Amino acid sequence: MKKRIEVDFKGYLDKKRKTVERSLDSLLPSVKEKPATVHRAMRYSVFAGGKRLRPILAIATFELLGKKGKKILAPACALELIHTYSLIHDDLPCMDDDDLRRGKPTCHKVFGEGIAVLAGDALHALAFELLTSTNRADVVMKVARAIGTKGMIGGQVADLEAEGKSKITLPEVRYIHNNKTGALVRASVMVGALIADASPEKLSALSEFGKNIGLAFQITDDLLDVTGEERFVGKKTHKDQLKATYPKVIGVERSKRTAKKLIQQAKGHLGIFRRDETILEKLADFVIDRSF
Ligand code: IPE
Ligand code: IPE
Ligand code: MG
Ligand code: MG
Ligand code: MG
Repeated sequence: MKKRIEVDFKGYLDKKRKTVERSLDSLLPSVKEKPATVHRAMRYSVFAGGKRLRPILAIATFELLGKKGKKILAPACALELIHTYSLIHDDLPCMDDDDLRRGKPTCHKVFGEGIAVLAGDALHALAFELLTSTNRADVVMKVARAIGTKGMIGGQVADLEAEGKSKITLPEVRYIHNNKTGALVRASVMVGALIADASPEKLSALSEFGKNIGLAFQITDDLLDVTGEERFVGKKTHKDQLKATYPKVIGVERSKRTAKKLIQQAKGHLGIFRRDETILEKLADFVIDRSF
């Protein structure tokens, strides 16, 4: 029988979010340093809000494997910087052309397109500087692969190329979602696992866990565009009309069922852990049961 500890999940999320935000604050360059404009833009987007799901997944996985301590913080923050860079670029007029992000005007609306591009680039660079501080080439490689053409960028390219197309198949939208969003979510779990020196068996279970929640996360993002409210979601809703989304391809109800099933499968992969896995299970539930 597994040991079950009832956890205050909301309290856990708040606590970890604060820890991550304190670290981010200490790791990001000051607005008093040159080039101040881009430092302001970087900080504006990083601190506009955000659930901090990716760093929290890395930390929760690290802790699930019985590890404690600060060495997970810099790589966890790197994941959030990469995610924020991807959002800044995703919102540009040449990409999704969005005006609202994390409840605030998008980076390019405030700082202009040039500075927004550069702020994204600078966050990307800083993220890799932080990742190399782990002295773990496997960690750096895992993240680099997850966000390149075989991961996030691959998904973003397919997302752009699918825009406006009338016939999108389920395998096509699944490819887009697994890559544009799923790859970094999965890598976030893997960063926690690698830094905790997980065994090959645990690495592979956690990789499957990450893959399942990553796809469910983007399906839920699509669902929130249809059924969510702008004041909670922090971005415009009903903006995906021309996009390849799960609700468009298989409908709202089937998308919800698919996401739910993926979360059940994800939790199934946690079976090999003898320690209590309530936090990762709850994080998996949160991926689909969220209003923002
Ligand atoms: C939004 O990500 C973009 C996607 C990859 C789906 P999040 O929903 O994690 O955004 P924040 O970080 O909480 O703002
Ligand atoms: C974003 O997907 C994926 C990345 C930023 C890599 P979306 O375009 O669906 O995200 P939102 O809805 O703008 O947050
Ligand atoms: Mg997009
Ligand atoms: Mg977008
Ligand atoms: Mg979206």
